[in-house]
Amino acid sequence: MQNIFISGISSGIGQALAQHYAQKGHQVYGVSRRSLSTLNSNIHHLKMDLLQHPTIGKGLDELLNKIDLDLVILNAGVLGRMTSMQEATMNELKNTMEINLWSQKVLLDCLLQNHKVKNVIGISSGAAINGNLGWSGYSLSKAAFNMLIQLYAKEFPLTHFIALAPGLVDTPMQDYLCGEVDAVKFPSVSRLQAARGTENMPTPSDFAIRFEKELPKILQFDSGSYVDLRNL
Ligand SMILES: NC(=O)c1ccc[n+]([C@@H]2O[C@H](COP(=O)([O-])OP(=O)(O)OC[C@H]3O[C@@H](n4cnc5c(N)ncnc54)[C@H](OP(=O)(O)O)[C@@H]3O)[C@@H](O)[C@H]2O)c1
Repeated sequence: MQNIFISGISSGIGQALAQHYAQKGHQVYGVSRRSLSTLNSNIHHLKMDLLQHPTIGKGLDELLNKIDLDLVILNAGVLGRMTSMQEATMNELKNTMEINLWSQKVLLDCLLQNHKVKNVIGISSGAAINGNLGWSGYSLSKAAFNMLIQLYAKEFPLTHFIALAPGLVDTPMQDYLCGEVDAVKFPSVSRLQAARGTENMPTPSDFAIRFEKELPKILQFDSGSYVDLRNL
């Protein structure tokens, strides 16, 4: 039985990972703003807005009560509006950075200060290294997140850190990308739109099965590495 902390467990990838590990008998501790739609006695949930940085430490103390953590999955994140860099407003860019980067720093600081943490997987994205038109604030935030993971890996040699690009997963994030974004204006989304409903964009629960299966291989990469699940 392992203790696993996952951020963003109300939907998509985080929800599926929480359900998957809980069903296998592990103790899952998770946060999100919304409540959970499915309850499981192995999932311990706390409502938390990760944008409210000063409240994160107290919330984690309440939820985790100093337990050791085998695995931390930093999953919560937002996409933001698909738009060119020039048209992106400073508010939009700051909001994306606030959750995808700075909240992750605050989470890591609280977790590493009060708990023995064996492994950290930060859910990154191919967008961290693909500078495709329209991914503006999201690409910037995930590129910086990769570096955040690399820097923490240097500071905490007893914890193993990986930034993981999960590949395409059919979550609510894809509702926007595949349903609302104009592929003529932003050509890179046509690949996503073609993948939806095929094996190239698995369901979150299929992704969770693959994640667990590949985890030993993922953890063989040096601490601080960026790993793309599609390349394994
Ligand atoms: N789906 C893909 O194809 C794909 C590909 C590459 C990377 N990713 C990454 O995978 C991660 C999960 O994305 P997803 O596709 O599963 O999206 P999703 O279904 O929209 O889930 C996002 C999760 O993050 C939580 N979250 C967002 N803002 C939050 C806040 N301020 N405070 C607390 N929790 C917050 C949400 O919970 P609440 O709204 O309840 O707060 C939700 O549980 C993200 O980091 C994303 O960048 C996804």
